[in-house]
Amino acid sequence: MSLKNRNLVTIDDLSNGEIEAVFSLTDEMSELMDKQSAVCRGKIMASLFFEPSTRTRLSFEAAMHRLGGSVITAVDGGTTSLAKGESLADMARVIGSYADIIVIRHPWEGAAKIFADYAGVPVINAGDGGHEHPTQTLCDLYTLLKERQTIEGLNIALFGDLENGRTIHSLTYALARFGANIGFPSNAGRELPEYVKRKLTVEYRGQFKKYKDLPPAIQKRLFPLDAVYITPSSPHQLAMMPEININIEIKLKAMKAGVDALYVNRRQLERLSSIAEGEGLKEDYPVIDKKFLKGKEYKEALVMHPLPRVDELAYELDDDPKSMYFKQAARGVPIRMALLTLLLGEKEISIPAKEDLSVPKRDYPLYRHDFGFIDHNSKCVSQLDTEKRYIKPEFKIVSKEPLTLSCVYCEHEIHPQYIASSDPHHEKSLDSRKYHSANTYWVRNIKPENLIIFDTEDSAKENGFKPSYYAGASRDRNDPGKVSKEQ
Ligand code: NCD
Repeated sequence: MSLKNRNLVTIDDLSNGEIEAVFSLTDEMSELMDKQSAVCRGKIMASLFFEPSTRTRLSFEAAMHRLGGSVITAVDGGTTSLAKGESLADMARVIGSYADIIVIRHPWEGAAKIFADYAGVPVINAGDGGHEHPTQTLCDLYTLLKERQTIEGLNIALFGDLENGRTIHSLTYALARFGANIGFPSNAGRELPEYVKRKLTVEYRGQFKKYKDLPPAIQKRLFPLDAVYITPSSPHQLAMMPEININIEIKLKAMKAGVDALYVNRRQLERLSSIAEGEGLKEDYPVIDKKFLKGKEYKEALVMHPLPRVDELAYELDDDPKSMYFKQAARGVPIRMALLTLLLGEKEISIPAKEDLSVPKRDYPLYRHDFGFIDHNSKCVSQLDTEKRYIKPEFKIVSKEPLTLSCVYCEHEIHPQYIASSDPHHEKSLDSRKYHSANTYWVRNIKPENLIIFDTEDSAKENGFKPSYYAGASRDRNDPGKVSKEQ
């Protein structure tokens, strides 16, 4: 099977079988590290880093050099035509005509998707703002597998800035898919974003359990956590088992056995909106040092970090054989060699013939109406003036009750308050068009392709809609009869 011309924008672009195949080629590539190979001779990789980078950029470039290919690079948006107001889509098209593969890091969430949509050559996301960083996850998973042989059933504790840490987001999806249990220590203010939690529970069918909600007997056996995320017992069969019974007791007993790995990241200061927010985060930020690791639950724990570190990871741990962070970084080169080789189609991979259901496939209906701009995340690429010229708001309708839409670029979610229909059968003439509360049965009645959403009643009225009897949120969502009388 070939991965030729595939993109890697999110870790879910690769199934578990494909990730394992990348890793077996990584093993081969590790053998080639001190030799000059010609696997990608004649190929050009564009390395575009519009945010600081040491490991990711240099390991991608080292990987391409070791494969015998060439590298063209731009490392500062200010020196490219982006500074002249060029859109990412135009830039992607142009660079796609110069290079065979593109690696991009960009501060805006969703930028890598735009590149993938327009470049016409494979695009690898090397970090898009606070959204995802899938190749770091490959380094993390590969390290776990090398050290622990399996990921299924491992207990991984995540510390640090879970909200803004893109490596954490991609890693949680992968850990869930491979069947690890994830522990979230108490760290108010830096929790996973809501959209990540929704994916973990709805799409990967795991469960979040608050520490305080667990039976006392189990609590006693756990180190203090804020929440535990428990994956279904057979994650690879997710799609086949709509009603999964998760055996919490067994999984939690496993937690008692201790933490297999703890993963920490630095405060993502550049993603915070103010210095004050950064200062707030400083106060209770974890510091992983010898003292911290004295707890018996960490006796066997690998210490992992995507680097760079600041104050959260003590240098005194560097000589400990359980400290993995420099190995994670070093493995970046053979992993990226394998990835470039496969996406360029220079080698094929063999993955087990059985159907791989590890990536939940959800064909959600799309919301594409352009009724004013939908404000959902100030860091989404769709908010940039340069991109608004050609991007229309586009959301997946991931849930109807409560109505939840997820941006196709940054995945942040919105919960619109008011809805209307563009179907002439619902609204006979323009001047009788009505809007309703999204919290009524109308949300089920309007077909996705006819749905129109509004943040506020004012915006509904500005667009020519009048309030229906069901504009008040408290109307009975299960009583369509009342509405027919109204009409
Ligand atoms: C991470 C990143 O850029 O998100 N670094 C990396 O690529 N290894 C982590 C970080 O910057 O904190």
